[in-house]
Amino acid sequence: MWLCLLNFLSINEIVSSLTTPKAPCMLPPDLWCDHPVAAIACTGSLRYCDQYRNNRKGKKFELTLAFESACPDSQQCVVYRLYPKLLTQPQIANIVEFTPVPWGLAKRETDQKVKCHHGEKECIGNRLLTCLFEHYQQNLYMRNRLFYCFMNNMMYKRPPRSSMETCIHQFQIPDQEANEIFSCANSTRATELQKKDELKTKQFFHGKFVPFISLQNYGHIHMQAYQMMLKEKILMWNNTIHTGPSSNVAPSKCQIPPDFWCSDKESANECYNQGICDLYMNAIYGKPLLFRIIYDSALEESREYIARYIQSWFIRKTDNKVKIVLEPTPQPRAADPYHEYAIQECANHYVTDTNSKNAIFLCILEAKQRVPTGNIIDAWVQRCHSHEPRLKDVVLNCANSQEWRQFAGQRSLTHAQLKPEKKTSDPWLVINGWSLRSAQAYKPLLHRMACIWYRGPNHDRDSCARCEYEPTHCL
Ligand SMILES: *[C@@H]1O[C@H](CO)[C@@H](O)[C@H](O)[C@H]1NC(C)=O
Ligand SMILES: *[C@@H]1O[C@H](CO)[C@@H](O)[C@H](O)[C@H]1NC(C)=O
Repeated sequence: MWLCLLNFLSINEIVSSLTTPKAPCMLPPDLWCDHPVAAIACTGSLRYCDQYRNNRKGKKFELTLAFESACPDSQQCVVYRLYPKLLTQPQIANIVEFTPVPWGLAKRETDQKVKCHHGEKECIGNRLLTCLFEHYQQNLYMRNRLFYCFMNNMMYKRPPRSSMETCIHQFQIPDQEANEIFSCANSTRATELQKKDELKTKQFFHGKFVPFISLQNYGHIHMQAYQMMLKEKILMWNNTIHTGPSSNVAPSKCQIPPDFWCSDKESANECYNQGICDLYMNAIYGKPLLFRIIYDSALEESREYIARYIQSWFIRKTDNKVKIVLEPTPQPRAADPYHEYAIQECANHYVTDTNSKNAIFLCILEAKQRVPTGNIIDAWVQRCHSHEPRLKDVVLNCANSQEWRQFAGQRSLTHAQLKPEKKTSDPWLVINGWSLRSAQAYKPLLHRMACIWYRGPNHDRDSCARCEYEPTHCL
């Protein structure tokens, strides 16, 4: 009877009657739509994710940048990040529509007169750029190269006109085209184009600083930290949109990824539900993020990741915002190098304090990094036991008996039950108890995401990465 019903109703219909999730979900919103189990647990149904997906499927990401030609932060944004990491990446070009808008914090004094943030040279630079962008609207490849070249010259404090001349010369732009750009910049055409830039800027720019990005004209302070990882994030958003199960629910008006569904009331209403946002915020407020990292110490990549990245970002500095749990992959059937797994398995069993455990595992990984063929028993005896001296012999005895295989066997069983997705790579990241394949892409970004995902007292989330994308703010 139940089976028939289940076949008859789609999962979607069964859960669409639910509006609020049963238990509070602790998974960061970025990942809510990456698995049906996550969508149901975190948003109460598949509805919101499917509606969003159906709205965005096949559409490009409209990325807009508010910037100023003579602003050092804008120059660095274009020269160090946007151009090399995004605009020149072939796989990105097909899914992103990028619009640079040279206006920023400029003020209009009269119909014809503009006061630029960094003085007259900036006004000249902005006018040259707005003409350049118009001229090359059908040739974005050339537009991007000239844009980058120009900002790079401006960064070295060359005057705007000679910056543009240098670039035009460098890319062997025909004289006639060059003349069109220069005379546009000196004419009322540039004034008109700048009026459009001003209007466009007002549509999405609600900040007090540049560079400032928006997605589908939605500009929010929460999005600005993503300037430091645009390529990675855009690829993740693309996956979220295109890999879900297909569903024929009507698309919503929702334009932005789940990352921002709880960023303000308007987005919550278009994409989601303010009530569920509040539930999530209350559930996570003040709670540390739990990053559990499962790894095989025999793999160089896993050792590197933990001994370098995780150690320097999280283990050396202690705050209450992130909790790291290192956990060696259980290897109950390992023959060789069995002592290595045995020592780690026994330490994992007998050491109860997470910090000591992390310190011991790191000590072992570092010994292994120094001498990959080295003996872990020596590392334990000489150095690593010092974090739990009284367990020195307990662990040795355990590793020299069959006891460790039993512990490893038990842990293998629990690992086989990781939910909702099983471990398929090494190292494997589990975030707040959630084991998701898509979450693995966050492994190199955890130091950035920790600031964005954590909510709690004494945490200025709006300033995440600000000193990096706006260095002059932090001089
Ligand atoms: C976007 O996602 C689809 C579906 O997963 C994939 O086929 C496509 O290659 C992705 N695009 C990029 C640029 O990664
Ligand atoms: C544009 O105006 C500037 C300053 O008035 C002048 O130096 C320059 O020669 C003009 N350029 C063109 C192409 O008219």
